[in-house]
Amino acid sequence: MSRSKLSQRIVRHSPSTGAGSPDVWGIYEPDTGSIQYICADPATKKAALIDVVWNLDPRNQRFSTGSMDQVLDLVAQNGLAVEWVLDTHPHADHVMASAQLRDRTGAPNAIGAMVPDIARIWADLYHLPEAFDPPRDFDRLFADGETFRIGDLQVRVMLSPGHTLGSITYVCGDAAFTHDTLMQPDVGTSRADFPGGDSGQLWDSIQEILALPTETRLFVGHDYGTDNRNEPEWEATVADHRARNRHVRDGTLRDDWIAIRDARDATLPLPDRILAALQINLRGGRLPAPEADGHSYLKTPVNRF
Ligand SMILES: [Fe+2]
Repeated sequence: MSRSKLSQRIVRHSPSTGAGSPDVWGIYEPDTGSIQYICADPATKKAALIDVVWNLDPRNQRFSTGSMDQVLDLVAQNGLAVEWVLDTHPHADHVMASAQLRDRTGAPNAIGAMVPDIARIWADLYHLPEAFDPPRDFDRLFADGETFRIGDLQVRVMLSPGHTLGSITYVCGDAAFTHDTLMQPDVGTSRADFPGGDSGQLWDSIQEILALPTETRLFVGHDYGTDNRNEPEWEATVADHRARNRHVRDGTLRDDWIAIRDARDATLPLPDRILAALQINLRGGRLPAPEADGHSYLKTPVNRF
């Protein structure tokens, strides 16, 4: 994933469309082109935080909390109470704020039930056989089809593998948080070449998302702008994608898309934070325990990628 050319921490509100529909705020994180979300029940003011970033400068491996602070300020300004700290998958391009938001809000943190399988792949790649234990570091691991509540709103978990083998989509009323499956319609789709990824699975996951009701608001995980667009975007309906998504609009054939996706992925460099990010994200957003000198250290595999 390329570094975003955009630079502003833009916030946009997508209002509830009526009973059963959440208020959604998207908060843009320009260093990694990530979109963080607040999904709130307008009636009870309960909210979930989704895919919030712990900022990392990859040059000196220094962390800062500007993005999660911004999200929590927005929560306070809108009189919301955080009920869940959610991630859609262990991100490769950014470090998750999950553990810190759990500490700061008291809300449980959660991710998908297949994350232990992702952790096994990376435990081998880092040769850290004992490091990752998702049931220890997340309060809930949601299985496909499982439901839970944000205030009075019901959320359904949809397993959406392909970008990772255990990514999940959160469907809440007429909103769905689709992470790294679709990109905006003028961009297309996300990559499927990280360890455990699979373009055929990603196609199938995208088709399941595009089978949601046509008015469903889809909120994507990343945007980097385009040659024609200097403002980030992150929301489009199922109908928008089916009419004009560059990669997967109605009429696209599975095998044609897989060929295009695999060819494009073969040209993409690894995200610059990936080897730090997975090592922390698979601990729920925790650094490795400090060593005897009181400092934490990350491990870097050499000549593996
Ligand atoms: Fe991702």
